[in-house]
Amino acid sequence: MYTEKVLDHFQNPRNMGEIEGYNGVGMVGNARCGDIMQMFIKVNDDGVIEDVGFKTFGCGAAIASSSMATEMIKGKTVEEALTLSNAAVVEALEGLPPQKIHCSVLAEEAVKAAVDDYRKKKANYQE
Ligand code: FES
Repeated sequence: MYTEKVLDHFQNPRNMGEIEGYNGVGMVGNARCGDIMQMFIKVNDDGVIEDVGFKTFGCGAAIASSSMATEMIKGKTVEEALTLSNAAVVEALEGLPPQKIHCSVLAEEAVKAAVDDYRKKKANYQE
């Protein structure tokens, strides 16, 4: 039912946990299943995501999706991170069962929420 990639990221999640010195954090949830995902990003002065971490209270597919998403945005600019789609996460995981696609949507939304928070904080700081 699950690909090797999904099982690998579920069993050995990358970048799990809150990171030190993050300047953007986003939390999203799916009302139907009740799962919650939190994404932390540390963006440097060049707008590059230097470090990223996640906390997911949810199913295995959500954990694998968050782990993969952190790998995909690490070292990227915030603009690049915003282009990350759930479809790209699913592709990188070499597929998810149809009933688990919504779990990858949480990862896309969590990244966007973290970038949003980072931008808001930056705007407030510059005021
Ligand atoms: Fe809720 Fe996977 S079942 S995120």
